[in-house]
Amino acid sequence: MEKGIRVEDLTIGYGEPLLKRLSFYMAESEFWIVVGPNGVGKSTLLKTILGIIPPLSGKVFIHGIDCTKGCDEKRFLSYVPQMEDYSHNFPATALDVVLSGFFPRLSRFQKLTDREREVAFHWMKLLGIESIANKQFNTLSGGQQRKTLIARALVSNPHYIFLDEPTTGVDLKSSKRILKIIHRLNKEKRFGILMVTHDINFVWEYVEKVILIGYNEYFIGNKEEILNEELLSRIYEVDVKIAETEYGPIFLVGDKHV
Ligand SMILES: Nc1ncnc2c1ncn2[C@@H]1O[C@H](COP(=O)(O)OP(=O)(O)OP(=O)(O)O)[C@@H](O)[C@H]1O
Ligand SMILES: [Mg+2]
Repeated sequence: MEKGIRVEDLTIGYGEPLLKRLSFYMAESEFWIVVGPNGVGKSTLLKTILGIIPPLSGKVFIHGIDCTKGCDEKRFLSYVPQMEDYSHNFPATALDVVLSGFFPRLSRFQKLTDREREVAFHWMKLLGIESIANKQFNTLSGGQQRKTLIARALVSNPHYIFLDEPTTGVDLKSSKRILKIIHRLNKEKRFGILMVTHDINFVWEYVEKVILIGYNEYFIGNKEEILNEELLSRIYEVDVKIAETEYGPIFLVGDKHV
């Protein structure tokens, strides 16, 4: 049986296609990022693979099973949505939000058990947020909210975690911490990671493969191949230069075309 996620000839969008005939294979335990300008369809791509929205055409396979119209293997995928996409309209503590990660597996009327609370605390501890368990989610800082949503994604025991901009709006140190945690989850726990990000400088060292999306076009490959000055400058329509430093390459943006 083939492990991993296979996307075949996938056309995504809402009525009108945003991206046509996307194909790739993400093996288990790989670290992928999705980059590209605002509005090209990065979040839509994640949501389509997750089955939140249907593709216009094409197929998604998880561990060899055609999941385009739903399948049991969907439970291997977990999702940390873009902050703009996460809303809850009831008072909830950080712990409540983390526990809500069990809901896809539990019926609405099933009670959570002590075991499930233990699992929630385990991941909150690993993310360093156990002390905020009883605070209201909407009073937490941006970084604490992201970590809470990551813990929520982890409780369902996934094989793959899809993260949509987990560090946008988060300060430098907290961003680095979040990315180190994601890196550890990838290296030590062997979770496959598919992450939308605008912070290329932060993630470069952790990433293996890149999906670079432009308007109606996309490029997939190893990071060294895709994240080059020429391609980035063309897709972002700015002058991108890459400086080699002791921390690895740093991506700089000029203002020639801005
Ligand atoms: N539910 C929806 N119905 C119709 N159009 C939508 C819907 N959600 C998003 N869009 C449109 O689809 C396009 C792609 O949106 P998407 O959120 O996938 O972009 P993105 O690449 O994630 O952008 P960003 O970097 O700003 O998050 C945008 O033009 C957006 O307005
Ligand atoms: Mg988005």
